Amino acid sequence: MHIRKTRTEQARFDFVSGLMGYNSTGIGPGMVKHYEDHKHRWGGRKPTMAETKALMTESPAYKFGAFFERHNHAMMFETILGIIDKQKDDVIKWLDTHNEPGALGSLKLDPTVAVPRYYKNVEIHTQPGSFHGNPFAGIMYHWMIGPFLCHRDDGNEMGWALANGVPNRDYKTIVDLGCGMGKTTIPYCDKFPNATVYGVDYAAPMLKYGHKFAESQKKKVHFVQARAEHTPFEDNSVDLVAAIWLFHEINSRAMDEMCAEAHRILKPGGVFAIMESPPFKVLSEQFHPLSEFLLDSTGRRMEDPFIPLFFSIDRPKMFEKAGFKNVKDVGLPNHLTGWSTNVDYFFGAYPWWMTIGEKKA
Ligand SMILES: C[S@@+](CC[C@H](N)C(=O)[O-])C[C@H]1O[C@@H](n2cnc3c(N)ncnc32)[C@H](O)[C@@H]1O
Repeated sequence: MHIRKTRTEQARFDFVSGLMGYNSTGIGPGMVKHYEDHKHRWGGRKPTMAETKALMTESPAYKFGAFFERHNHAMMFETILGIIDKQKDDVIKWLDTHNEPGALGSLKLDPTVAVPRYYKNVEIHTQPGSFHGNPFAGIMYHWMIGPFLCHRDDGNEMGWALANGVPNRDYKTIVDLGCGMGKTTIPYCDKFPNATVYGVDYAAPMLKYGHKFAESQKKKVHFVQARAEHTPFEDNSVDLVAAIWLFHEINSRAMDEMCAEAHRILKPGGVFAIMESPPFKVLSEQFHPLSEFLLDSTGRRMEDPFIPLFFSIDRPKMFEKAGFKNVKDVGLPNHLTGWSTNVDYFFGAYPWWMTIGEKKA
């Protein structure tokens, strides 16, 4: 379905999108300049996160950016919902039509799947209704993420990074946990054409739109509504379990349960890989001092409350606790932030960070 926009709505959407791009690339250099102009205070030593925070709260660029980020997201979601509102019955009908004759993939919904406790009291990264509470959550996420990432992920680059990062094997069954609207799932269809590809998410609105999106791209993805902690897959039945941008949003119990679940469903020798940004320790030791601070502060500001926890834990240890062997962290090329390209500053320049392990053969 083509969701129509009047010229005025398109203009507003373009304006808000442009602001998002400016937020992502335009304000960062002002923050970096403030840091560079004042870092002499520490006489050559790297400041701690608390010291960086104190410094940056004096920066007009940071103060403006922090306010702007939050309101820009609110404007974006409000704009999208405003566009959908006049045609919402048609859009709901479209989203509720699935598994049509000729569909390549499928959608299996399960209304008994419970909302995770850690999402109950937040609107995760300020999205109205989080992933489950608004029928248009998948559309909101998709229309927001393009401008937010300055359209540098329009070719599903983040999904491709992990698909290219895992060992190149003849996987037969691949499961993408926390697949959302499927952007990160689609690259497995192209990279491993012999595999049956599943996307698992608890949130029906994300999956309904994901199913439509994958079919529109002619990609065969089987979407399943389930908690990633308790999937419907048999023991020892999957070759690759992957997850992108899932673990930083969940509590520590869910992290452990998902690792255990990945271990249960994987065949012996199967691979579990997750991709996120690097942990704070790596950021503070190897990358620009603002990277750690901005990640932490955006989590606190943008209703992503588990960022400070996830970026502080030892990810390989978490995998090992679930039984995985040969566990390691691997930096992957990151085309978005300018770490591996010369594009302008985008919210910290560092590699994407894969944690990967194998179930004992
Ligand atoms: C930040 S989004 C990432 C989506 C997708 N991987 C991407 O990068 O575009 C996190 C996704 O994880 C899902 N999620 C969070 N907790 C989950 C759980 N316990 N079980 C299944 N899905 C979960 C959310 O619904 C959401 O779609």
